Amino acid sequence: MDLITASFSIKTHDSQKTIRKIVDEKVHDHEDREDQDDPFFISDLGDIVQKHSRWKTLLPRVEPHYAVKCNPDPAVLTTLAALGTGFDCASKAEIQTMLELSVSPSRIIFANPCKQKSHLKYACDTNVSLMTFDNEDELYKVKRLYPGARLVLRILTDDTTAQCQLGLKYGCHPKHARYLLQVAKQLDLNVVGVSFHVGSGCRESSAYTKAIASSHDVFEAAHYIGYHMDLLDIGGGFPGQPSAPIAFEEFAEVINRALDEYFPVSCGVRVIAEPGRYFVASAFTLAVNVTAKRVVARDIKTFEVPESKDLVSNTVAPTKCEEPAYMYYVNDGVYGSFNCLLYDHASVEPTIMTDHSGEMEYSTSIWGPSCDGLDRIIEHTTMPELEVGEWILFKDMGAYTMCAGSEFNGFKRPVVYYVLPNNLRVPMHQMLQQENKEFKISTSNTKCTNYRGYFIEDAVGFAFEDADLFSHHPPSIDIRA
Ligand SMILES: Cc1ncc(COP(=O)(O)O)c(C=O)c1O
Repeated sequence: MDLITASFSIKTHDSQKTIRKIVDEKVHDHEDREDQDDPFFISDLGDIVQKHSRWKTLLPRVEPHYAVKCNPDPAVLTTLAALGTGFDCASKAEIQTMLELSVSPSRIIFANPCKQKSHLKYACDTNVSLMTFDNEDELYKVKRLYPGARLVLRILTDDTTAQCQLGLKYGCHPKHARYLLQVAKQLDLNVVGVSFHVGSGCRESSAYTKAIASSHDVFEAAHYIGYHMDLLDIGGGFPGQPSAPIAFEEFAEVINRALDEYFPVSCGVRVIAEPGRYFVASAFTLAVNVTAKRVVARDIKTFEVPESKDLVSNTVAPTKCEEPAYMYYVNDGVYGSFNCLLYDHASVEPTIMTDHSGEMEYSTSIWGPSCDGLDRIIEHTTMPELEVGEWILFKDMGAYTMCAGSEFNGFKRPVVYYVLPNNLRVPMHQMLQQENKEFKISTSNTKCTNYRGYFIEDAVGFAFEDADLFSHHPPSIDIRA
Protein backbone atom coordinates (compact mmCIF):
# COMPACT_ATOMS: atom_id res chain seq x y z
CA MET A 1 0.00 0.00 0.00
CA ASP A 2 1.12 3.52 -0.67
CA LEU A 3 0.60 6.76 1.18
CA ILE A 4 -0.23 9.42 -1.36
CA THR A 5 -0.02 13.17 -0.86
CA ALA A 6 -0.63 15.92 -3.36
CA SER A 7 3.03 16.12 -4.29
CA PHE A 8 4.52 12.66 -3.70
CA SER A 9 3.68 9.10 -2.90
CA ILE A 10 5.37 6.80 -0.41
CA LYS A 11 5.68 3.09 -1.05
CA THR A 12 5.60 1.02 2.08
CA HIS A 13 7.65 -2.15 2.34
CA ASP A 14 8.37 -5.07 4.60
CA SER A 15 10.52 -3.73 7.45
CA GLN A 16 13.13 -6.45 6.84
CA LYS A 17 13.73 -5.37 3.25
CA THR A 18 17.07 -3.67 2.64
CA ILE A 19 17.49 -0.49 0.58
CA ARG A 20 19.68 -2.50 -1.79
CA LYS A 21 16.80 -4.88 -2.42
CA ILE A 22 14.46 -1.93 -2.98
CA VAL A 23 16.91 -0.44 -5.49
CA ASP A 24 17.16 -3.80 -7.21
CA GLU A 25 13.38 -3.99 -7.56
CA LYS A 26 13.27 -0.44 -8.86
CA VAL A 27 15.94 -1.19 -11.45
CA HIS A 28 13.74 -4.00 -12.77
CA ASP A 29 10.48 -2.09 -12.36
CA HIS A 30 10.09 -1.29 -16.02
CA GLU A 31 6.46 -0.25 -15.73
CA ASP A 32 7.09 2.53 -13.31
CA ARG A 33 10.23 3.99 -14.84
CA GLU A 34 10.07 6.00 -17.98
CA ASP A 35 13.75 5.97 -18.94
CA GLN A 36 14.96 2.78 -17.46
CA ASP A 37 18.62 3.66 -17.34
CA ASP A 38 18.12 7.09 -15.72
CA PRO A 39 19.68 7.60 -12.28
CA PHE A 40 17.33 7.70 -9.29
CA PHE A 41 17.25 8.21 -5.56
CA ILE A 42 15.57 5.97 -3.03
CA SER A 43 14.56 8.08 -0.07
CA ASP A 44 13.85 6.16 3.11
CA LEU A 45 11.53 8.42 5.08
CA GLY A 46 11.64 5.87 7.89
CA ASP A 47 15.29 6.82 8.41
CA ILE A 48 14.27 10.44 8.99
CA VAL A 49 11.60 9.34 11.45
CA GLN A 50 14.17 7.25 13.36
CA LYS A 51 16.63 10.15 13.39
CA HIS A 52 13.97 12.38 14.87
CA SER A 53 13.18 9.96 17.65
CA ARG A 54 16.93 9.54 18.34
CA TRP A 55 17.29 13.31 18.58
CA LYS A 56 14.39 13.55 21.02
CA THR A 57 15.91 10.83 23.19
CA LEU A 58 19.48 12.11 23.18
CA LEU A 59 18.98 15.88 23.10
CA PRO A 60 15.62 16.31 24.81
CA ARG A 61 16.18 19.98 25.65
CA VAL A 62 17.13 21.03 22.13
CA GLU A 63 14.37 21.79 19.61
CA PRO A 64 15.58 20.93 16.09
CA HIS A 65 14.93 23.49 13.34
CA TYR A 66 15.82 21.61 10.16
CA ALA A 67 18.12 23.60 7.82
CA VAL A 68 16.02 23.61 4.64
CA LYS A 69 19.04 24.39 2.44
CA CYS A 70 20.50 20.96 3.12
CA ASN A 71 17.79 19.14 1.19
CA PRO A 72 14.52 20.92 0.42
CA ASP A 73 12.87 17.80 -0.96
CA PRO A 74 9.08 18.11 -0.44
CA ALA A 75 8.72 14.71 1.24
CA VAL A 76 11.56 15.51 3.65
CA LEU A 77 10.00 18.84 4.56
CA THR A 78 6.51 17.36 4.91
CA THR A 79 7.78 14.51 7.09
CA LEU A 80 9.72 16.84 9.37
CA ALA A 81 6.84 19.28 9.54
CA ALA A 82 4.56 16.42 10.54
CA LEU A 83 7.09 15.32 13.17
CA GLY A 84 6.83 18.79 14.65
CA THR A 85 10.30 20.20 14.02
CA GLY A 86 10.98 23.85 13.35
CA PHE A 87 12.83 25.10 10.25
CA ASP A 88 15.90 27.18 9.51
CA CYS A 89 15.23 29.18 6.34
CA ALA A 90 17.83 31.36 4.63
CA SER A 91 15.74 33.09 1.97
CA LYS A 92 12.29 34.26 0.98
CA ALA A 93 11.72 31.15 -1.16
CA GLU A 94 12.59 28.80 1.70
CA ILE A 95 10.25 30.67 4.05
CA GLN A 96 7.53 30.61 1.42
CA THR A 97 7.94 26.86 0.95
CA MET A 98 7.49 26.20 4.63
CA LEU A 99 4.52 28.52 5.01
CA GLU A 100 2.88 26.80 2.05
CA LEU A 101 3.30 23.52 3.91
CA SER A 102 1.21 25.10 6.70
CA VAL A 103 4.16 25.49 9.07
CA SER A 104 3.44 28.30 11.49
CA PRO A 105 5.79 31.35 11.25
CA SER A 106 6.60 30.77 14.91
CA ARG A 107 8.37 27.52 13.92
CA ILE A 108 10.74 29.29 11.52
CA ILE A 109 14.06 30.98 12.16
CA PHE A 110 15.34 33.19 9.34
CA ALA A 111 18.93 32.11 9.95
CA ASN A 112 20.75 34.20 7.39
CA PRO A 113 22.77 36.95 9.07
CA CYS A 114 22.97 38.95 5.81
CA LYS A 115 19.47 39.25 4.39
CA GLN A 116 18.25 40.71 1.12
CA LYS A 117 15.92 43.66 1.79
CA SER A 118 12.94 42.23 -0.07
CA HIS A 119 13.36 38.95 1.80
CA LEU A 120 13.36 40.78 5.09
CA LYS A 121 10.19 42.63 4.11
CA TYR A 122 8.62 39.30 3.21
CA ALA A 123 9.56 37.92 6.65
CA CYS A 124 7.89 40.97 8.18
CA ASP A 125 4.73 40.56 6.09
CA THR A 126 4.46 36.91 7.04
CA ASN A 127 5.37 37.31 10.74
CA VAL A 128 8.56 35.30 10.62
CA SER A 129 10.06 37.36 13.38
CA LEU A 130 12.99 35.28 14.66
CA MET A 131 16.18 35.97 12.71
CA THR A 132 19.94 36.08 13.04
CA PHE A 133 22.35 38.98 12.53
CA ASP A 134 26.11 39.38 12.95
CA ASN A 135 27.00 42.92 11.81
CA GLU A 136 26.11 46.53 12.44
CA ASP A 137 24.68 47.31 9.00
CA GLU A 138 22.19 44.49 9.33
CA LEU A 139 20.87 46.17 12.47
CA TYR A 140 20.12 49.40 10.56
CA LYS A 141 18.44 47.35 7.83
CA VAL A 142 16.28 45.52 10.36
CA LYS A 143 15.44 48.81 12.11
CA ARG A 144 14.14 50.23 8.83
CA LEU A 145 12.30 47.17 7.54
CA TYR A 146 11.29 45.03 10.51
CA PRO A 147 11.79 46.91 13.78
CA GLY A 148 9.71 44.35 15.68
CA ALA A 149 11.96 41.43 14.70
CA ARG A 150 13.32 39.15 17.43
CA LEU A 151 17.06 39.14 16.80
CA VAL A 152 19.60 36.44 17.51
CA LEU A 153 23.27 37.42 17.51
CA ARG A 154 25.38 34.89 15.62
CA ILE A 155 28.83 34.64 17.07
CA LEU A 156 32.02 33.25 15.58
CA THR A 157 33.30 29.93 16.90
CA ASP A 158 36.29 27.77 16.13
CA ASP A 159 35.35 25.62 13.12
CA THR A 160 38.84 24.91 11.83
CA THR A 161 38.50 21.11 11.93
CA ALA A 162 35.01 20.97 10.40
CA GLN A 163 34.30 19.45 6.97
CA CYS A 164 32.89 22.82 5.83
CA GLN A 165 33.91 26.00 7.59
CA LEU A 166 31.40 28.81 7.81
CA GLY A 167 33.29 31.18 10.11
CA LEU A 168 35.17 32.73 7.20
CA LYS A 169 31.89 34.27 6.13
CA TYR A 170 29.62 34.58 9.16
CA GLY A 171 29.66 35.24 12.86
CA CYS A 172 30.63 38.25 14.94
CA HIS A 173 33.79 37.87 16.99
CA PRO A 174 32.69 37.42 20.62
CA LYS A 175 34.84 40.44 21.58
CA HIS A 176 32.75 42.57 19.19
CA ALA A 177 29.44 41.26 20.55
CA ARG A 178 29.10 43.85 23.30
CA TYR A 179 29.46 46.68 20.77
CA LEU A 180 26.78 45.23 18.47
CA LEU A 181 24.45 44.73 21.41
CA GLN A 182 24.96 48.36 22.41
CA VAL A 183 24.08 49.52 18.88
CA ALA A 184 20.99 47.29 18.92
CA LYS A 185 19.99 48.77 22.26
CA GLN A 186 20.40 52.32 20.98
CA LEU A 187 18.18 51.40 18.03
CA ASP A 188 15.62 49.99 20.44
CA LEU A 189 15.79 46.58 18.75
CA ASN A 190 14.79 43.36 20.46
CA VAL A 191 17.75 40.96 20.78
CA VAL A 192 16.48 37.70 22.24
CA GLY A 193 19.40 35.32 21.97
CA VAL A 194 22.69 34.03 20.64
CA SER A 195 23.45 31.55 17.87
CA PHE A 196 26.57 29.89 16.48
CA HIS A 197 27.56 27.25 13.96
CA VAL A 198 30.56 25.05 14.71
CA GLY A 199 30.96 24.23 11.00
CA SER A 200 29.11 21.69 8.92
CA GLY A 201 30.35 18.18 9.50
CA CYS A 202 31.87 19.02 12.89
CA ARG A 203 34.78 16.76 13.81
CA GLU A 204 35.40 17.86 17.37
CA SER A 205 32.66 17.58 19.96
CA SER A 206 34.47 20.04 22.24
CA ALA A 207 33.70 22.76 19.66
CA TYR A 208 30.16 22.84 21.07
CA THR A 209 31.42 23.17 24.64
CA LYS A 210 33.59 26.16 23.71
CA ALA A 211 30.80 27.75 21.69
CA ILE A 212 28.23 27.28 24.46
CA ALA A 213 30.68 28.82 26.95
CA SER A 214 31.22 31.81 24.60
CA SER A 215 27.47 32.19 24.21
CA HIS A 216 27.15 32.31 27.97
CA ASP A 217 29.63 35.21 28.08
CA VAL A 218 27.55 37.06 25.47
CA PHE A 219 24.40 36.46 27.53
CA GLU A 220 26.17 38.09 30.48
CA ALA A 221 27.30 41.05 28.38
CA ALA A 222 23.74 41.44 27.09
CA HIS A 223 22.37 41.38 30.61
CA TYR A 224 24.75 44.20 31.55
CA ILE A 225 23.45 46.24 28.58
CA GLY A 226 19.84 45.63 29.55
CA TYR A 227 18.78 42.63 27.50
CA HIS A 228 17.21 39.59 29.11
CA MET A 229 17.89 37.05 26.42
CA ASP A 230 16.10 33.71 26.53
CA LEU A 231 17.15 31.81 23.38
CA LEU A 232 20.28 29.83 22.56
CA ASP A 233 20.64 28.44 19.03
CA ILE A 234 23.41 25.86 18.80
CA GLY A 235 23.29 25.72 14.98
CA GLY A 236 24.14 22.66 12.88
CA GLY A 237 27.22 20.50 12.42
CA PHE A 238 25.82 17.14 13.61
CA PRO A 239 26.82 13.96 11.73
CA GLY A 240 24.31 12.43 9.35
CA GLN A 241 25.71 9.04 8.38
CA PRO A 242 26.69 6.02 10.48
CA SER A 243 30.30 6.15 9.22
CA ALA A 244 30.89 9.69 10.56
CA PRO A 245 34.13 9.98 12.55
CA ILE A 246 32.28 11.02 15.71
CA ALA A 247 28.91 9.52 16.63
CA PHE A 248 25.87 11.69 17.32
CA GLU A 249 25.76 10.12 20.81
CA GLU A 250 29.11 11.71 21.67
CA PHE A 251 27.98 15.13 20.46
CA ALA A 252 24.75 14.81 22.44
CA GLU A 253 26.58 13.90 25.62
CA VAL A 254 29.00 16.81 25.31
CA ILE A 255 26.24 19.29 24.46
CA ASN A 256 24.00 18.16 27.33
CA ARG A 257 26.90 18.54 29.75
CA ALA A 258 27.74 22.03 28.50
CA LEU A 259 24.09 23.08 28.62
CA ASP A 260 23.80 21.84 32.18
CA GLU A 261 26.87 23.85 33.12
CA TYR A 262 26.21 27.12 31.28
CA PHE A 263 22.45 27.11 30.65
CA PRO A 264 20.81 24.87 33.28
CA VAL A 265 17.08 24.24 32.88
CA SER A 266 16.45 26.58 35.80
CA CYS A 267 17.73 29.59 33.81
CA GLY A 268 14.67 29.34 31.54
CA VAL A 269 16.61 29.65 28.28
CA ARG A 270 15.00 27.90 25.31
CA VAL A 271 17.55 25.91 23.29
CA ILE A 272 17.14 25.28 19.57
CA ALA A 273 19.45 23.87 16.87
CA GLU A 274 19.63 23.98 13.07
CA PRO A 275 20.56 20.44 12.03
CA GLY A 276 20.77 19.80 8.29
CA ARG A 277 22.82 16.75 7.34
CA TYR A 278 21.86 14.95 10.55
CA PHE A 279 18.32 14.38 9.32
CA VAL A 280 18.86 13.59 5.66
CA ALA A 281 22.34 12.27 4.84
CA SER A 282 21.63 8.57 5.38
CA ALA A 283 18.02 8.71 4.14
CA PHE A 284 18.98 8.96 0.47
CA THR A 285 20.66 6.34 -1.71
CA LEU A 286 21.58 7.20 -5.27
CA ALA A 287 21.60 4.61 -8.06
CA VAL A 288 23.51 5.50 -11.22
CA ASN A 289 23.87 3.56 -14.44
CA VAL A 290 27.15 2.80 -16.21
CA THR A 291 26.49 4.37 -19.60
CA ALA A 292 29.96 3.90 -21.14
CA LYS A 293 33.39 2.50 -20.35
CA ARG A 294 36.93 2.85 -21.58
CA VAL A 295 39.99 0.63 -21.15
CA VAL A 296 43.15 2.55 -20.34
CA ALA A 297 46.70 1.83 -19.21
CA ARG A 298 47.60 -1.23 -17.17
CA ASP A 299 47.02 -1.63 -13.50
CA ILE A 300 49.46 0.08 -11.17
CA LYS A 301 49.60 -2.80 -8.71
CA THR A 302 51.54 -5.17 -10.94
CA PHE A 303 53.75 -2.80 -12.89
CA GLU A 304 56.28 -0.24 -11.89
CA VAL A 305 54.37 2.92 -12.69
CA PRO A 306 55.18 6.02 -10.66
CA GLU A 307 52.32 6.89 -8.32
CA SER A 308 50.25 9.56 -9.96
CA LYS A 309 47.19 11.45 -8.84
CA ASP A 310 45.62 10.99 -12.25
CA LEU A 311 46.14 7.30 -12.10
CA VAL A 312 43.17 6.03 -14.06
CA SER A 313 42.64 8.57 -16.78
CA ASN A 314 42.86 8.78 -20.49
CA THR A 315 46.54 9.73 -20.65
CA VAL A 316 48.19 6.46 -21.67
CA ALA A 317 47.10 4.23 -24.54
CA PRO A 318 45.68 0.82 -23.64
CA THR A 319 48.13 -2.06 -23.73
CA LYS A 320 47.57 -5.73 -24.36
CA CYS A 321 48.49 -6.65 -20.82
CA GLU A 322 46.29 -8.84 -18.69
CA GLU A 323 45.57 -6.13 -16.16
CA PRO A 324 43.96 -3.19 -17.85
CA ALA A 325 42.45 -0.29 -15.95
CA TYR A 326 38.95 1.01 -16.53
CA MET A 327 37.19 4.33 -16.70
CA TYR A 328 33.42 4.17 -16.23
CA TYR A 329 31.02 6.92 -17.22
CA VAL A 330 27.81 7.13 -15.17
CA ASN A 331 24.75 9.33 -15.54
CA ASP A 332 25.06 11.65 -12.56
CA GLY A 333 28.15 13.71 -11.78
CA VAL A 334 29.67 16.75 -10.12
CA TYR A 335 27.32 19.10 -11.95
CA GLY A 336 24.43 17.07 -10.52
CA SER A 337 24.11 15.22 -7.22
CA PHE A 338 27.88 14.80 -6.81
CA ASN A 339 28.35 18.57 -6.50
CA CYS A 340 28.86 17.56 -2.85
CA LEU A 341 32.41 16.53 -3.82
CA LEU A 342 33.22 20.15 -4.59
CA TYR A 343 30.95 22.18 -2.29
CA ASP A 344 30.59 19.88 0.67
CA HIS A 345 34.11 18.40 0.57
CA ALA A 346 32.41 15.03 0.65
CA SER A 347 33.86 11.67 -0.32
CA VAL A 348 31.63 8.95 -1.71
CA GLU A 349 31.84 5.18 -1.85
CA PRO A 350 30.50 3.09 -4.72
CA THR A 351 28.71 -0.23 -4.25
CA ILE A 352 28.17 -2.40 -7.32
CA MET A 353 24.68 -3.84 -7.62
CA THR A 354 25.56 -7.01 -9.52
CA ASP A 355 27.34 -9.79 -7.68
CA HIS A 356 30.95 -9.96 -8.92
CA SER A 357 32.34 -11.87 -5.97
CA GLY A 358 35.52 -13.77 -6.65
CA GLU A 359 36.34 -11.73 -9.76
CA MET A 360 39.63 -9.96 -10.32
CA GLU A 361 39.72 -6.29 -9.36
CA TYR A 362 41.23 -3.57 -11.54
CA SER A 363 42.21 0.04 -11.11
CA THR A 364 39.15 2.10 -11.83
CA SER A 365 37.99 5.70 -12.05
CA ILE A 366 34.36 6.87 -12.26
CA TRP A 367 33.25 9.90 -14.23
CA GLY A 368 30.06 11.95 -14.54
CA PRO A 369 28.10 12.32 -17.77
CA SER A 370 28.90 15.92 -18.79
CA CYS A 371 31.51 16.67 -21.42
CA ASP A 372 33.73 18.41 -18.88
CA GLY A 373 37.02 16.98 -17.59
CA LEU A 374 36.28 18.25 -14.09
CA ASP A 375 33.33 15.89 -13.91
CA ARG A 376 35.07 13.07 -12.08
CA ILE A 377 33.41 11.27 -9.16
CA ILE A 378 36.16 8.86 -8.11
CA GLU A 379 39.77 9.34 -9.07
CA HIS A 380 40.97 5.89 -8.16
CA THR A 381 39.50 2.76 -6.67
CA THR A 382 39.64 -0.95 -7.44
CA MET A 383 36.68 -2.85 -8.83
CA PRO A 384 35.85 -5.92 -10.85
CA GLU A 385 35.21 -5.23 -14.52
CA LEU A 386 31.72 -3.79 -15.07
CA GLU A 387 29.61 -3.90 -18.18
CA VAL A 388 27.77 -0.95 -19.68
CA GLY A 389 24.25 -0.96 -18.20
CA GLU A 390 25.26 -2.11 -14.71
CA TRP A 391 24.15 -0.11 -11.67
CA ILE A 392 26.29 1.48 -8.97
CA LEU A 393 24.88 2.59 -5.63
CA PHE A 394 26.05 5.48 -3.49
CA LYS A 395 24.62 5.57 0.00
CA ASP A 396 24.40 8.54 2.39
CA MET A 397 23.64 10.93 -0.47
CA GLY A 398 20.93 13.04 1.16
CA ALA A 399 22.86 16.09 2.38
CA TYR A 400 24.00 18.93 0.13
CA THR A 401 23.56 16.83 -3.02
CA MET A 402 20.31 17.25 -4.92
CA CYS A 403 19.76 20.77 -3.53
CA ALA A 404 22.67 22.26 -5.48
CA GLY A 405 22.65 19.99 -8.53
CA SER A 406 22.21 21.48 -12.00
CA GLU A 407 21.05 20.04 -15.31
CA PHE A 408 24.26 21.09 -17.06
CA ASN A 409 24.68 19.51 -20.49
CA GLY A 410 21.05 18.37 -20.44
CA PHE A 411 21.40 15.65 -17.82
CA LYS A 412 18.22 15.60 -15.77
CA ARG A 413 18.36 15.43 -12.03
CA PRO A 414 17.47 11.98 -10.67
CA VAL A 415 13.87 11.30 -9.68
CA VAL A 416 13.23 10.36 -6.07
CA TYR A 417 11.23 7.31 -4.99
CA TYR A 418 10.05 7.45 -1.38
CA VAL A 419 9.79 4.39 0.80
CA LEU A 420 8.73 3.68 4.36
CA PRO A 421 8.84 0.44 6.38
CA ASN A 422 5.42 -1.07 7.04
CA ASN A 423 5.63 -0.63 10.80
CA LEU A 424 5.71 3.16 10.31
CA ARG A 425 2.83 3.31 7.83
CA VAL A 426 0.01 3.88 10.31
CA PRO A 427 1.85 6.40 12.49
CA MET A 428 3.04 8.28 9.39
CA HIS A 429 -0.51 8.32 8.08
CA GLN A 430 -1.75 9.71 11.38
CA MET A 431 0.98 12.33 11.50
CA LEU A 432 0.22 13.57 8.03
CA GLN A 433 -3.43 13.64 8.94
CA GLN A 434 -2.80 15.67 12.08
CA GLU A 435 -0.50 18.07 10.32
CA ASN A 436 -2.75 18.80 7.40
CA LYS A 437 -6.24 19.92 8.30
CA GLU A 438 -7.45 19.16 4.78
CA PHE A 439 -6.66 15.49 5.04
CA LYS A 440 -9.20 13.26 3.39
CA ILE A 441 -9.51 9.57 2.87
CA SER A 442 -10.45 8.99 -0.70
CA THR A 443 -13.59 7.00 -1.24
CA SER A 444 -12.78 6.14 -4.81
CA ASN A 445 -9.96 4.32 -6.52
CA THR A 446 -8.68 7.47 -8.18
CA LYS A 447 -5.24 8.71 -7.26
CA CYS A 448 -4.75 11.97 -5.42
CA THR A 449 -5.68 15.15 -7.21
CA ASN A 450 -7.10 17.11 -4.31
CA TYR A 451 -5.46 20.39 -3.36
CA ARG A 452 -3.07 19.73 -0.50
CA GLY A 453 -5.11 16.78 0.66
CA TYR A 454 -3.62 13.47 1.67
CA PHE A 455 -5.02 10.37 0.10
CA ILE A 456 -4.60 6.68 0.45
CA GLU A 457 -4.12 4.89 -2.80
CA ASP A 458 -6.65 2.19 -3.59
CA ALA A 459 -8.84 3.63 -0.91
CA VAL A 460 -11.60 1.08 -1.22
CA GLY A 461 -9.32 -1.61 0.12
CA PHE A 462 -7.06 0.35 2.38
CA ALA A 463 -8.83 3.35 3.78
CA PHE A 464 -11.52 1.35 5.49
CA GLU A 465 -9.01 -1.04 6.92
CA ASP A 466 -7.06 1.86 8.37
CA ALA A 467 -10.07 3.86 9.45
CA ASP A 468 -10.77 0.88 11.66
CA LEU A 469 -7.18 0.86 12.88
CA PHE A 470 -7.34 4.51 13.82
CA SER A 471 -10.43 4.10 15.95
CA HIS A 472 -9.45 0.91 17.79
CA HIS A 473 -5.69 0.44 17.74
CA PRO A 474 -3.29 3.22 18.63
CA PRO A 475 -0.10 2.97 16.58
CA SER A 476 2.45 0.66 18.12
CA ILE A 477 5.21 3.25 17.68
CA ASP A 478 4.75 6.82 18.74
CA ILE A 479 7.03 8.52 16.25
CA ARG A 480 6.42 12.00 17.56
CA ALA A 481 7.78 11.07 20.96
C1 LIG B 1 23.11 28.88 9.29
C2 LIG B 1 23.19 27.42 9.08
N1 LIG B 1 22.49 26.63 9.91
C3 LIG B 1 22.50 25.29 9.77
C4 LIG B 1 23.20 24.68 8.75
C5 LIG B 1 23.17 23.20 8.65
O1 LIG B 1 24.38 22.65 8.99
P1 LIG B 1 24.58 21.07 9.08
O2 LIG B 1 24.11 20.49 7.82
O3 LIG B 1 26.01 20.90 9.32
O4 LIG B 1 23.79 20.58 10.26
C6 LIG B 1 23.98 25.47 7.89
C7 LIG B 1 24.81 24.85 6.85
O5 LIG B 1 25.52 25.43 6.11
C8 LIG B 1 23.95 26.88 8.04
O6 LIG B 1 24.65 27.69 7.23
